[in-house]
Amino acid sequence: MAYSEKVMDHFANPRNVGEMPDADGIGEVGNSKCGDIMKMYIKVEDDIITDVSFKTFGCGAAIATSSMATELVKGKPISEALQLTNKAVMEALDGLPPVKVHCSVLAEQAIKAALSDYYTKKGIDPEPIVGKATDCDECHFHN
Ligand code: FES
Repeated sequence: MAYSEKVMDHFANPRNVGEMPDADGIGEVGNSKCGDIMKMYIKVEDDIITDVSFKTFGCGAAIATSSMATELVKGKPISEALQLTNKAVMEALDGLPPVKVHCSVLAEQAIKAALSDYYTKKGIDPEPIVGKATDCDECHFHN
């Protein structure tokens, strides 16, 4: 299966790239098998994700899924961002080849990791809100 035009577009022109010095939450996840690392930064005001950016050291699909994930949560309430699944990211990109599905899982996990960090920084236990650190065997959080 070839990459969709949307994947190629988000890989070639990724949206919301870069570090965010004044981020309210930073999440970093990595995949131990491929070694790729994804870092997400969020800015939150009144439970709305007002800004989001990412830095990904990884494959093209990891860059495209990070880019799409930032677009899908930008300006959205946290409650909606928490429901973002890797499947939704893939659908928004018109699909991914099966061997690249794990890249989209990384994007979902990176958003959740950033939200966990946001709550932790506020002194709130993130687990009841965001869920367990990870439910994907291949992905793991870096702390
Ligand atoms: Fe690892 Fe894509 S090959 S995230």
